[in-house]
Amino acid sequence: MDRDPASFAGRGKDVVTHDDVRRFQRLVSRRLNREPVSRIVGEREFWSLTFELADSVLDPRPDSEALVEAVLSAVRDREAPIRLLDLGTGSGCLITALLSELQAATGIGVDIEPVALRVAWRNLIRNGLHQRARLVCANWGSALRGGFDIVVVNPPYVAVRDMDDLAPEVVNYDPHRALFGGHDGLEAYREVVPGLPRLLCSTGLAVLEIGRGQERNVRSLLRGAGFAAIESRCDLAGVERCLLARM
Ligand SMILES: C[S@@+](CC[C@H](N)C(=O)[O-])C[C@H]1O[C@@H](n2cnc3c(N)ncnc32)[C@H](O)[C@@H]1O
Repeated sequence: MDRDPASFAGRGKDVVTHDDVRRFQRLVSRRLNREPVSRIVGEREFWSLTFELADSVLDPRPDSEALVEAVLSAVRDREAPIRLLDLGTGSGCLITALLSELQAATGIGVDIEPVALRVAWRNLIRNGLHQRARLVCANWGSALRGGFDIVVVNPPYVAVRDMDDLAPEVVNYDPHRALFGGHDGLEAYREVVPGLPRLLCSTGLAVLEIGRGQERNVRSLLRGAGFAAIESRCDLAGVERCLLARM
């Protein structure tokens, strides 16, 4: 764990001690209990940046990189002082990745889980981006005034009725508050979407991650909130993974 895999090639004569073996066995038994490797090693790579993990945060998924790509494809001037808002920031992976690409941007990450915010703050520091960020503990955007250029949201969207289909790595290790969006998976969208127009400036953009098969329902919630221009984007597996919406 404290050795870089590449260093093994140069350490062929190192002796493996009993302590090393016991330590290795403990790690293997954690994996046999279906704990994800990222949680065992305590970190995860996202957008080529490294993020600390903890029990209180969702393990960032490669699928969510589709949101970062969607935002970057919509931004005309990457040097502009863009105001970003990340609702449900968790590990802080989205706000951190966006701040790393948009070098004059500032951002606010919101989460209802205070322990997650402490992890997000350490992740911003570790990636050298905390000076352009603030974190707020709140119920979605309720504590904030508007004026944001871009709001990204990756809400909990798994339907509770699908819980039994989840792998043990997910259901036993990711925080349930980060996973489940009520009986049909759409509860958080119903809470968040009506508040988005108030948070955005008149030319603002909302980018929402969606689960498989949720495109039609979330699109209709966005239309109901007054969004006129709505596009979808796929992840690398070709699944519709996010919606981009402008007023
Ligand atoms: C699916 S996770 C997304 C985490 C991170 N943004 C990512 O993409 O990996 C959803 C996040 O929303 C947070 N959350 C759930 N309910 C919330 C609420 N009412 N207000 C603010 N955040 C909430 C959870 O704590 C969790 O961190």
